[in-house]
Amino acid sequence: MSQQNIVVGVTGGIAAYKMVDVVSQLRKAGFNVHVIMTANASQFINPLTFQTISQNAVMVDQFQAPSHWDVRHISMADKADLFLIAPASANMIGKIANGIADDMLSTTVMATTAPVLIAPAMNVHMYENEIVQQNINRLKALGYQFIDPEFGRLACGYEGKGRLASNDVIVNTILEFNCLKDLQGQKVLITAGPTREHLDPVRFFSNPSTGKMGYALASQAGKRGASVTLISGPSHLPDPKDVNTVRVQTAQQMYEAVLEHECDADIIIGAAAVADYRPVQQAAQKIKKAQDELTLTLVKNPDILREIGKHKNNRILVGFAAETHEPLKYGLEKLVKKNLDLIVINNVSDSDAGFAVDTNRVVLMDVEGNEEKIELTSKQQIAIAIWDYIVKHLINKEA
Ligand code: CTP
Repeated sequence: MSQQNIVVGVTGGIAAYKMVDVVSQLRKAGFNVHVIMTANASQFINPLTFQTISQNAVMVDQFQAPSHWDVRHISMADKADLFLIAPASANMIGKIANGIADDMLSTTVMATTAPVLIAPAMNVHMYENEIVQQNINRLKALGYQFIDPEFGRLACGYEGKGRLASNDVIVNTILEFNCLKDLQGQKVLITAGPTREHLDPVRFFSNPSTGKMGYALASQAGKRGASVTLISGPSHLPDPKDVNTVRVQTAQQMYEAVLEHECDADIIIGAAAVADYRPVQQAAQKIKKAQDELTLTLVKNPDILREIGKHKNNRILVGFAAETHEPLKYGLEKLVKKNLDLIVINNVSDSDAGFAVDTNRVVLMDVEGNEEKIELTSKQQIAIAIWDYIVKHLINKEA
């Protein structure tokens, strides 16, 4: 991820504390974050907290020598690739909308040419006040973008719209906004989710995969400019935006769908938890419980990635390894056996990683012997890190 500069303006409001986590997430996503606080914001949060989290000096609205003041607000305004004001008070919105620049934050916003995102937070009646709404509309018409507040219980005891958008919404808006188009022109094929291997019309073999990791990879690739086909086993997740999603049930169907689309692809990622075996026969009708014991015979399904690996040409091939023990050893074996360029290894016995949870922690291991560990984070962030790795080590290496 490139080191882009985000200037975060924090105004006075109880939601200021939430920005500690937002700043931390932005740092982890690779941004260089500079915080400017109003004097009122520093009543809620000590600037030292933001300084420690952002690893940059925090500018607070206090009296400073004029020469220093002038330099700082212009240099910060110039430095910003993106400006975020959150929480944005009615007062700050009013000042920006009316061209008032009387403190460090309002002066810097006025001097910037970077895109400005504003996330308001205030009492519901203040938010609905016609003057505040006019100010918001005026700013929208001028190109300022808003991250709308949420409906909920407010610190003042009221229930209504005015609560700062959730941390995830703010961070994701920034990630989308600032997303690099470094996959422009790439054709990507991703498998995701479980497969179902039916025994009879009402019973099947499967696994707990929900498809979250593969869907996150697909939507990130789309946002970064790739043309994406997602071959998904049964999943409750909606089709990701701007992604050609093909739904299948069985490993055999997934294999056929991959064969149909593979010749078009530059990058293929196998994120699906494909069932390795299927019942040798699928009963046309429900099997009745007759005997005390039932013996089933299973036959092997095609190993989709391995088959592609046999004729991969100059495609980039990425696999996952779901392991419950010795993950690195088995991961390396799969990397070699399936002729992959990169393997994403996860220990599915961890309760907070792997199947059916929102988070994951993985090790990336490539064919050159490089390893990178990604500590526990959301699957969206893991997807970003995987694409960063592919772009840096596999695509640009080949260019
Ligand atoms: N995979 C595949 N087709 C299969 C099985 C697995 O394409 N029939 C892919 C998965 O999508 C994943 C990788 O191969 O990217 C490894 O899957 P995993 O289940 O960890 O390993 P297996 O190859 O099935 O081996 P084992 O079950 O013995 O660990």
